[in-house]
Amino acid sequence: MHRRSVLSALAASVTGAYFNAPLATSSTFQRALSDIALYDGGKGALESADDEDFWMQVQQAYSVDRTIVNLNNGGVSPAPRSVMETFIRLTQQANQIPSYEMWRHQESHVETVRHELASVFGCSAEEVAITRNASEALQTAQLGIDLKPGDEVVISTQDYPRMLAAWDQRAKRDGIVVKRVKFDVPVMNADDVVDAYRAAITSRTKVLHASQTVFLTGQILPVGKLCALARQHNLMSIIDGAHAFAQFPLTRDAIGCDVYGTSLHKWLSGPIGTGMLYVRKDLIPSIWSLMASNSGQEADIRKYEEIGTHSAAMHNALSDAVLLLKSIGLERKAARFRYLHSLWTEEVGALAGVSFNTNIADPANQCAIVNVHIDKVDHVKLSEWLLSKHRIFTVAITHEQFNGLRVTPNVYTTVHEMRRFAQAMKEAVTTMPESIIDKKQ
Ligand SMILES: Cc1ncc(COP(=O)(O)O)c(C=O)c1O
Repeated sequence: MHRRSVLSALAASVTGAYFNAPLATSSTFQRALSDIALYDGGKGALESADDEDFWMQVQQAYSVDRTIVNLNNGGVSPAPRSVMETFIRLTQQANQIPSYEMWRHQESHVETVRHELASVFGCSAEEVAITRNASEALQTAQLGIDLKPGDEVVISTQDYPRMLAAWDQRAKRDGIVVKRVKFDVPVMNADDVVDAYRAAITSRTKVLHASQTVFLTGQILPVGKLCALARQHNLMSIIDGAHAFAQFPLTRDAIGCDVYGTSLHKWLSGPIGTGMLYVRKDLIPSIWSLMASNSGQEADIRKYEEIGTHSAAMHNALSDAVLLLKSIGLERKAARFRYLHSLWTEEVGALAGVSFNTNIADPANQCAIVNVHIDKVDHVKLSEWLLSKHRIFTVAITHEQFNGLRVTPNVYTTVHEMRRFAQAMKEAVTTMPESIIDKKQ
């Protein structure tokens, strides 16, 4: 059935009010969305980026506080209603007879979730561990590989502070050497990033660590080339995909990494407290688990899930999040993010004094996150002004190389909300209220 006719059939059958309706209707909606096509390799994705009939249904899939325009989905994202319903239902079920319900029933269903996540990443389920967040996933590798004093790790100054802290702790504890490479903001030539990493590699280098998307700016880095560089030099590649996985199309094969860690409570919209670790199958025996696992589990990806008693509802509800992702389709989702950003970057970017810390000119460089800079403005104060005056929530970013405002919508963000933001930003730039001026400049 054609997408529009599915939607009109849906609208007729559920009178446009899916989520006030009982659960049976909710699965009707999910099924209908699933029929609409999805991993379609881009076919139709661009044309549907502004199809508000479609996106209205996605907006309704979330129950969020619309009294504040949330443009800080980079920190953590809300889970859609279907995920919350499953999470709450399973938690209540488990609470009846926890050790029976959770361990005899719910826990084994994690295998379905493992397969689902592997199908999104394009790897074997035997290479996917479900963690509590990206920090746990990445630190499993960072702290779990054997390194000797003097061994070197290359990372960048724009990686996530907790990941930098993990390597710094190893430097203090194990005597390894951490090299932080620097690259320009915005990145205008992806090869400059590869060259910066290449220049830092020596005969002692053992690990190359990079973010697929820089959390500060939303800049997408050439991780395929970085992993190829790592292979050339026989280094382990660890890719931080916290802001990439489930945001835009990517696969393990296109990246070619040894280890990949991501949050699932950001772009997958999983329950808050979920993440994923990918480890290439043949490397599993050589990477220790963060918490001690059992003898016999050395080559089993499940050793990374040996964390003691935890909520099975949390990871099992991820299957609903994967369903919504597949229903939307990654090409379509990425196209929507770029469209939502175009609603404000074109107008605001044309004003004097406005520039971008993200290379927004090239879709290969940017997707859901854009970082904007306004001359003479204190971005912390601007963020406060947007919240207090316009009820728009963003985050100010200060880095040794730049500062700006990070703007991150999500699939539930409306065109109207982006236009409100555009208006507010135009007001800020053209009237320059006293309260947002950077007095130190
Ligand atoms: C690039 C990057 N890596 C890792 C993390 C840590 O993610 P989590 O809080 O899920 O552990 C974040 C969080 O924002 C991030 O942006």
